[in-house]
Amino acid sequence: MLPSIIIANWKMNFNPKEEVKLSLALKEELGEKNKKEIVVCPSFIGLSQVSEVLKKSKIKLGAQDAFWQSKGAYTGEISPSVLKEIGCEYVIIGHSERRGCLGETDEMVNRKLAAVLANNLTPIICIGETLEEWHEGRTHYVVLNQLTKAFKNIHLIQDEQLVVAYEPVWAIGAGRPVEPEEAQLVFESIRQTLIDLYPLSFVNNNVRLIYGGSVDGKNAGGFSRLDLCSGFLVGGASLDSAEFIRIINYF
Ligand code: PGA
Repeated sequence: MLPSIIIANWKMNFNPKEEVKLSLALKEELGEKNKKEIVVCPSFIGLSQVSEVLKKSKIKLGAQDAFWQSKGAYTGEISPSVLKEIGCEYVIIGHSERRGCLGETDEMVNRKLAAVLANNLTPIICIGETLEEWHEGRTHYVVLNQLTKAFKNIHLIQDEQLVVAYEPVWAIGAGRPVEPEEAQLVFESIRQTLIDLYPLSFVNNNVRLIYGGSVDGKNAGGFSRLDLCSGFLVGGASLDSAEFIRIINYF
């Protein structure tokens, strides 16, 4: 079975110097003992420096996004192959801030997923409903629709891994997570949909479902107890090493 995974998404909160400082603090505080998988996702511009800091540590490096082409005239974009060269092992795809602020579509998410897998990187695919959709009781429909579109024509091979993050859009940065029991029901739907698409053994052994949206050192325990929750994608509470470690310690 894969270990729990706790991912820090630092978004656009720091400059590279601050990202290096936080990486050093986490490296020192977490040491070598940790059995869980810890991933930090700095800004693109901080990746190289953080990668240097994390060498010889058990903390892994992730990117906040990637483009679907590997080279060419795509101003401002970053290819998965370059991310791999820099030392990334994970890539966040389809975060709701990209879907919402930058118009990222399910089709783009699908192309990014294919490119990330083709470069032997592990995708962290984000799906989640808006507040309006939640009020209308459409959560499962929306989440499963995003999921099936993301995986359209994606053929997985035996040793590939997936992380699927259920992140209700309305809970992100809101200081108010979804109820853990509600998240459990969504995890069950996600798992069932993946089983419809891929072999059961693949889903059991290669996929981790995680929760994101206002996770902090106080509420993390409610989620870590859920049998289908294998970790967290943490934004705000990952910006402080002590708070992030409190969350890690729930698993
Ligand atoms: P938050 O962000 O923990 O600040 O709610 C989570 C995310 O955006 O992944």
